Amino acid sequence: MDDLQRVLEWFSDAGVSDVTADESRVRRETKKEVSSLAELREIVSKVDIPLKNCALNMVFGVGNENADILFLGEAPGAEEDKQGIPFVGQSGRLLDKMLAAVGLDRTKVYITNILPWRPPGNRTPTNQEIELFRPYVLKHIALVDPKAIICLGGTATKALLQTSEGIMRLRGKWARIDGVSARILPTFHPAYLLRSPSQKREAWLDFLTATEGTR
Ligand code: URA
Repeated sequence: MDDLQRVLEWFSDAGVSDVTADESRVRRETKKEVSSLAELREIVSKVDIPLKNCALNMVFGVGNENADILFLGEAPGAEEDKQGIPFVGQSGRLLDKMLAAVGLDRTKVYITNILPWRPPGNRTPTNQEIELFRPYVLKHIALVDPKAIICLGGTATKALLQTSEGIMRLRGKWARIDGVSARILPTFHPAYLLRSPSQKREAWLDFLTATEGTR
């Protein structure tokens, strides 16, 4: 194993893989265990990636930091980019309604995304971007330590489960991955539900399953 690979493995063990930043800075940043969301937010804000040059704000996470259910979306859109808060646009308004339909709100759950910066033109995150941020997402999940994770849509599901299986096959089925104690339930993304309202019932059932599964 060469030196670079050893260093990268060491970063990854520390919960971070800031592969694009300069090595000595990343070494300093990751030497200490990341033990709070505030600390992780600081580290993520320093990830050196072109994506952030096109964005207005970093969108880290919102909600109850001790929540039993964590919602994982894909990436901020235009409104989230403006406000620096996940799911505050059209999709977010639908998400809020769906939460209310199962007796939840943003004070009871935690919400974050795979990417903390808006991809230009709302394009889908690239595999490289997903790979870069996945260790941070895993750290984010570990710090909140939820009982269940609801993956909103195909991109978040593929990124977290590292699968190429589509959301149509995966939704509504509990899954697990190594290193994450929470059970994972993929469902449809609110943006998809806005286009295909007939599928709202399935997503509502998934929200209900997750809520009941964490009681
Ligand atoms: N879509 C997402 O996946 N995340 C957001 O924060 C907003 C829209």
